[in-house]
Amino acid sequence: MTKHLISSADLTRADVEAILDTAASMHDVQRREVKKLPTLRGRTIINFFFEDSTRTRSSFEIAGKWMSADTINLSAKGSSTSKGESLRDSVQTINAMAVDALVIRHNQSGACQQVAGWVNASVINAGDGTHEHPTQALLDAYTLRSRIGELDGKHVVIVGDLTHSRVFRSNVITLMTLGARVTVVAPPTLMPSGIGSWSATDGFATSWDFDEVLSGEDRPDAVMMLRVQRERMSGGYFPTPREYTVGYGLTRPRLATLLQRNPDVLVMHPGPMNRGLEISADAADAPSSVILDQVSSGLAVRMAVLYHLLAGEGSAA
Ligand code: NCD
Repeated sequence: MTKHLISSADLTRADVEAILDTAASMHDVQRREVKKLPTLRGRTIINFFFEDSTRTRSSFEIAGKWMSADTINLSAKGSSTSKGESLRDSVQTINAMAVDALVIRHNQSGACQQVAGWVNASVINAGDGTHEHPTQALLDAYTLRSRIGELDGKHVVIVGDLTHSRVFRSNVITLMTLGARVTVVAPPTLMPSGIGSWSATDGFATSWDFDEVLSGEDRPDAVMMLRVQRERMSGGYFPTPREYTVGYGLTRPRLATLLQRNPDVLVMHPGPMNRGLEISADAADAPSSVILDQVSSGLAVRMAVLYHLLAGEGSAA
């Protein structure tokens, strides 16, 4: 494995499989009464979050703590960023304290790649703008694998605001690395420009018609709904929320169609959800929903990533 985890494309199939296997043993720790491993004792991990987060930040923090690392959290508000300090100065300041890993979330695509060039620590991308979110893709793959087995040939449908989604970009890469078949669905206004050549090169399908994909020959094994990211939108990407739901929401009737075709279909969402917009409460809380499993998988997967980067064979440590 490489020193940093910036993009899902940094990981070979063997890397992804090694992380998922390690995560499976880390998952056992979550079921213990005493959740502590000595693995990262003496290591320091800084979670530097320039954007809001609930699950990603807390799971990185808990993952580090359960492995006995010293972890601290910084956010833009409350750090010198709010006094005008540049990203470079901030991370170099942290780096001067000889930390071992920097977990970074930033609203600029490419920020983590830049930071990796400025510091000695391992850099882990916890979401950079609309670019990538590699640990989310790993935890989604872990959740899928633990429910439906190896992903070779499985059909995963990703639906929603693709233009603003780093989760979608990382997921397409990791799912394809593991041999899954992927279809991505969005209204034309939320389909990223340039997706035609990417999908043609990498061999995934694109569609503007959710109902056609749901009832098509290639029945879905999992449907991953993505949040409509209103905070990243400057204009009108769809006429009204109601119209978005009518075309692209996982409504109760659509869930029924899915279940009719495949009673074992999985409903996923990386969170945070806009209930009633991209996903109905019926779908979010259905027995097919693995949304909370994704959260607990996130902890195991982040422990595994920290292990491979900081303690595993060939780590920079
Ligand atoms: C995602 C993110 O921040 O990219 N959430 C997450 O990490 N679980 C998706 C989103 O914000 O919609």
